[in-house]
Amino acid sequence: MIKLNTTSAETFVQAESLEHALHTSKASLQDVFNKTGKGPEWTGWVDIVKSPNDALLGEIEQLARTIREDADVFIVCGIGGSYLGARAVIDALGPFFPGKGPEIVYAGHHMSARYLNELAAYLSQPNREGKPKSVYLNVISKSGTTTETALAFRILRDWMKQTYGPEAARRITATTSAGGGALNKIIQAEGYRKFVLPDDIGGRFSVLTPVGLLPIAVAGLDVRELFYGAVSEYERVSSDPETLLKYTAIRHALYTAGYRIDINASFEPALKSFGGWMQQLTGESEGKNHKGLYPAVHAYSTDLHSLGQMVQDGERNMLETFLVVDKTHSDAILPYDDDNYDGLNYLAGRSVHDINTKAYQGTRQAHHEGGVPVISLHIPEVSESSLGALIFFFELATAVYVYNLGENPFDQPGVEDYKKAMFKLLGKENA
Ligand code: PA5
Repeated sequence: MIKLNTTSAETFVQAESLEHALHTSKASLQDVFNKTGKGPEWTGWVDIVKSPNDALLGEIEQLARTIREDADVFIVCGIGGSYLGARAVIDALGPFFPGKGPEIVYAGHHMSARYLNELAAYLSQPNREGKPKSVYLNVISKSGTTTETALAFRILRDWMKQTYGPEAARRITATTSAGGGALNKIIQAEGYRKFVLPDDIGGRFSVLTPVGLLPIAVAGLDVRELFYGAVSEYERVSSDPETLLKYTAIRHALYTAGYRIDINASFEPALKSFGGWMQQLTGESEGKNHKGLYPAVHAYSTDLHSLGQMVQDGERNMLETFLVVDKTHSDAILPYDDDNYDGLNYLAGRSVHDINTKAYQGTRQAHHEGGVPVISLHIPEVSESSLGALIFFFELATAVYVYNLGENPFDQPGVEDYKKAMFKLLGKENA
């Protein structure tokens, strides 16, 4: 269950402003649930947790098992909402160092020629047993026309065809919209297996659809636990929305008070990619008509040694949201050392997780005393179910918060501008 502590942020806003923000958030939450806000045709991410599709979960689990039995490498080819959610969960729960099962690699999330060359070279090298690598690929693109993904997919598809011949087709799965788009033409022509991303769910709200679930299942994680973690959070918010409303209200009141940057910080480095997913979810949803909190992601305590000075002592326009993990499944005890040259014997016998927790508590206190409003969101542990709950919590909080701003959370008109300029330079027809 997600627990929220806003006491060290509330002192930075007027009580009436917070009360007003709470009131606005309540109305916004009703707008999301009743589909009466902006962009109601994109709120399918609520419907899927309201009525879970167990058959779809089963289909994903079945395909993931088949791929896991044979694959050395599974390529997730997508950008933005088409890969960040999967990566967030896989990095949070997967091993830090290569473990059992297929290695998950990413492509189509930029256009680095060097990366694509090195990836092709890596795929062509033998596996650990000295045999040719068994490679599977999941191309994910709702529109089916995104340049980064299409370009990487063309190159990788070519590599797969050259390497496996006609057998390449059974190694490729595509996740895209029901119809239309260039990717659907390729799927039909090549006979790839396809999963559908429903039209009423946008990319950054799609992690609990096949977009995120297939790669997460291939990584060996329990997608049913993840999905039902989200279902539980939906049920909790439906009957007791207080935590969500307090969270959206304090962000809104701080924004109204002039704060402009929201630092999402965690002392668990495995959650850094989760921060990346949140960064896209909030950034692309909020940043409309010159509004919104800029989402920064800090991985502590690493970043205390690079950005800590700025947070403690830089311009006072930032708030900080800590994502706190209360328990760890993998602790370590600091050993006693007879020589004690490093002076660490005062910590001997203590758990590293407890020491890290003290670092969080000290940082929270110092930043608060330095003039930074701090919010803490606690999860009991990093597990499929707690991440599922967090995913739904942040999706809903984002939609509610953007409604508070009077904007549509589900479109991204500003992203088109770089594409237009790029297409013109590339000489694309009708650009
Ligand atoms: O959230 C979004 O809608 C975007 O970030 C998209 O996911 C991203 O632009 C990729 O689009 P597509 O899935 O159409 O390739």
